[in-house]
Amino acid sequence: MTTAARPAVELRGLRKSFGRLDVLRGIDLEVGHGEVVCVIGPSGSGKSTLLRCVNLLEEPTAGQVWVDGVELTDPDVEIDAVRRGIGMVFQSFNLFPHLTVSANLTIAQRRVLRRGRAEAERIARANLDRVGLTDKADAFPAQLSGGQQQRAAIARSLSMEPKLMLFDEPTSALDPELVGDVLTVMRGLAEEGMTMLVVTHEMAFAREVADRVVFMDGGVVVEQGPPREVLGAPRHERTRSFLSRILDPTTSRGWGGPTFPPVVRRSVP
Ligand SMILES: Nc1ncnc2c1ncn2[C@@H]1O[C@H](COP(=O)(O)OP(=O)(O)OP(=O)(O)O)[C@@H](O)[C@H]1O
Ligand SMILES: [Mg+2]
Repeated sequence: MTTAARPAVELRGLRKSFGRLDVLRGIDLEVGHGEVVCVIGPSGSGKSTLLRCVNLLEEPTAGQVWVDGVELTDPDVEIDAVRRGIGMVFQSFNLFPHLTVSANLTIAQRRVLRRGRAEAERIARANLDRVGLTDKADAFPAQLSGGQQQRAAIARSLSMEPKLMLFDEPTSALDPELVGDVLTVMRGLAEEGMTMLVVTHEMAFAREVADRVVFMDGGVVVEQGPPREVLGAPRHERTRSFLSRILDPTTSRGWGGPTFPPVVRRSVP
């Protein structure tokens, strides 16, 4: 059933309804291996629901979800095995408050992947280095800033060695001065060739780091393409009006925050 030639993520005719509310109304979307796709769109357009359908945290009402050539919507699939290959980072960091940063990073490695203590700690340390938190291994989450907690949450995901990372507005709960460090970590992951599906309101990040931007509205993909097209010269009126609401050219609001040099990929297959 697994075919390496298939995209990292493939959504076909994806629908999700909550009662009579049709939230996703037929989504077709692919994410290639090593590709960074940013999803933008108004509140309530279904972005979080879409991400949650990719790892089946929500069960789609109709349509198919494929990850790495495995159909997750196949009733016989071993969903836990597939989920292990998918990292997810939310707006709230969800670290265990009673565990040190290091223990937060080793617990799932040990319980789910059955790694021994020494190996799990070695991998945890390597990933704390990767997100710039080498010296915080023994701290508790409450002793960290929001940005540090979010970077620890990213390191925790990376410790499971996922093939795909899903991010749902990872910086929207952070004070503005803490956003840049988290986005820099994400940019580093993109450079390393990580496949990433990112819901974000950080337009500068989307413009510089994404290979493709997807604009959603009302549960459908309205348009998608390279950032310079979707953000710079949108074809659809709905995209234009959304962008004009969040990007004020006179104040450059929305483009604010950290700026990003374009990504140089090292190892995209
Ligand atoms: N579990 C649920 N039960 C009922 N309705 C839900 C559920 N989850 C989401 N919805 C509804 O689905 C719609 C889309 O929600 P979703 O969270 O996917 O939007 P979003 O694009 O992520 O919005 P935001 O930018 O505000 O995060 C909303 O109307 C929401 O109220
Ligand atoms: Mg959301």
